[in-house]
Amino acid sequence: MNRRIHYGGDYNPEQWPRAIWREDVRLMKEAGVDLVTVGVFSWAELEPTEGTYDFGWLHEVLDLLGEAGIGVDLATPTTAPPPWLTTRYPDVLPVDSKGTRYSHGSRQQFCVCNPTYRMFAKQVVARLVSEVGGHPAVEMWHINNEYACHVPYCYCDHHAAAFRAWLASRYGSIEEVNEAWGTVFWSQRYSELAEVLPPRLTPSFSNPGQELDYCQFSNDAFLDELLEEREILKASRPDIPVTTNFVGFYKPLDYFAWSRELDVVSTDNYVDPADPEWAMQNAIHYDLVRSVNKAVPWVVMEQTSSRVYWREHNVPKRPGQMRAMSYQAVARGASGVLFFQWRASRVGAERFHSAMLSHSGEASPVWAEIRDLGRELALLEPLGQARVAARVAVAFSWQNWWALEAPAKPANDLVLSEQLAWLYRPLFRSGTTVDFCRPDEPLGGYEVVLVPSLYRVTREEGANLVSFVHQGGDAVISFWSGIVDEHETVYVGPYGGPLRPIMGCDVLEVAPLLAGAVVEVEWEDGTKTTAGFWADVVAETDGHVLARIASGPWAGRPAVIENRVGSGRTYYLATRLDPAGLARVYSRLPALAGEPSLERAGDGVERVVRTGPEHTYEFLINHAPEDRELEIAPGGIELLARVELGDRVKLPPTGVAIVRRPTSELAR
Ligand code: GAL
Repeated sequence: MNRRIHYGGDYNPEQWPRAIWREDVRLMKEAGVDLVTVGVFSWAELEPTEGTYDFGWLHEVLDLLGEAGIGVDLATPTTAPPPWLTTRYPDVLPVDSKGTRYSHGSRQQFCVCNPTYRMFAKQVVARLVSEVGGHPAVEMWHINNEYACHVPYCYCDHHAAAFRAWLASRYGSIEEVNEAWGTVFWSQRYSELAEVLPPRLTPSFSNPGQELDYCQFSNDAFLDELLEEREILKASRPDIPVTTNFVGFYKPLDYFAWSRELDVVSTDNYVDPADPEWAMQNAIHYDLVRSVNKAVPWVVMEQTSSRVYWREHNVPKRPGQMRAMSYQAVARGASGVLFFQWRASRVGAERFHSAMLSHSGEASPVWAEIRDLGRELALLEPLGQARVAARVAVAFSWQNWWALEAPAKPANDLVLSEQLAWLYRPLFRSGTTVDFCRPDEPLGGYEVVLVPSLYRVTREEGANLVSFVHQGGDAVISFWSGIVDEHETVYVGPYGGPLRPIMGCDVLEVAPLLAGAVVEVEWEDGTKTTAGFWADVVAETDGHVLARIASGPWAGRPAVIENRVGSGRTYYLATRLDPAGLARVYSRLPALAGEPSLERAGDGVERVVRTGPEHTYEFLINHAPEDRELEIAPGGIELLARVELGDRVKLPPTGVAIVRRPTSELAR
């Protein structure tokens, strides 16, 4: 991928007569479009009946786009098998946990472990490559579409067989499976692998180890399909980068693992523009996507120009909001901003989804915004080598997410997204950029690691976090961390498992608080803040108690413990502190303390810096409903208006400034 910001969207020309295609290309040029995704849902057009193919129309489309200099992100069509396939081979259709088989008539109606599906998928991909893989317009491969989005788990017999094979290779024997899953409980002991099933509908809670392994297995099964497609694509065109579109914080798929297999990471972002925290939701989404593979470029593959159709009440983006959101992505490192979709459909379930080109065409105000943003991005100087650098990391794993939110817990309303938002929000508001890291990833480049409810933690992950602190890092660990191992087996003794050496306290019991209950938290200097949701019943050990719970049944118990370990420190948060309480903790961290950013937090302006070898780009995006006048370091050039700046910049609501300065020696 070259270094400018790509712009474009999903293009589905098969829905339109040929006469429209030329018009499409003309308007794409007008809007600065340079990359479109073609063919995502075209299987039935490319292979109308079993073994008969029609690639003529696709050749024509690629020719038209290529002649206009518009690159193509060519999709394999495997996300939507045609009706002939599932009519002839009905067991390709997936089955839910109650044993109900899905029907065709929508999309994603395939069981990824079904050998017939896999055979047809490979066949159509191979055919696609041999027909058009050499076309000069093809710049990227887009494999499938939003894997696992509609049917993340299938429970059919093919899955049962594949699950058993997966268990055999992971554990070796049924005795090991019994041991790992603790099947001594409720008389679940298996005498042979053949008795093991996917976690189908059961009378009560199913086995937690089995559930967790099924999440991992299902992830692996989808990834295996991607790898099979990738192999075919790479065999013929190893030079073309490969991607598949992620869905940000999407629980069923471990994107850390997936992104290792891709040349470009891409994500689809359908944040609700009416969500009061939409700006933060975008920021955290993009920080995650940038982080899942820190060595490859990433793009927004899909966002809306305006409105979706699938929420109950679909509020459009207000004027300027789409542009501001797009720059949020660019600020956080994106090399492309694309949309679903280019032209609004007339037919099908998605005809009321907004598009770059609405039903009313060029007359729509949406078009004006799309065209203007495309032109503006086309003029923006390349930022490709300017990286977003973070000193703060969040320890995050999909395996923990699966386990944390599985049922039968003290608080079944404890959701990871809330824990993340709680710790992330103040940093977003203060303009402190955050990376996400696997708990077992090298952390040496960070000064602070936040650990939100790392309930499931392996010994290796725990050791990595412990050594990060020993070597001088600061960790902020929230309650409900270090509870179970990779099989969902509890670490007994006071809670904390492999994190105990750095926690500085013993967590003896856990106590979810009454819904809505607020407890007081009293700090050493007598200041009072509040907390809610949860209280650990903590006994202090080697740590220093900074604050105690001061009301309710757990009054007197430690709420915040500071523990010096080696040359680093751990802050253990035994309850969900309110923003003032959390700010007190954050202000003790050298990486954050003294940052002017903490004081200016809350002005509604998002600040992100991208640093390149020569230039540093400071992005300022005003999410506040009023104008903001900001003090800035003098000597910058604002790239969008192309003006030299003094020491102030004024931004209207949704306004964006990109301030370029020479990169200082220090930042290099
Ligand atoms: C995405 C999907 C697109 C389109 C879009 C609508 O999940 O990849 O094909 O359906 O949602 O919002």
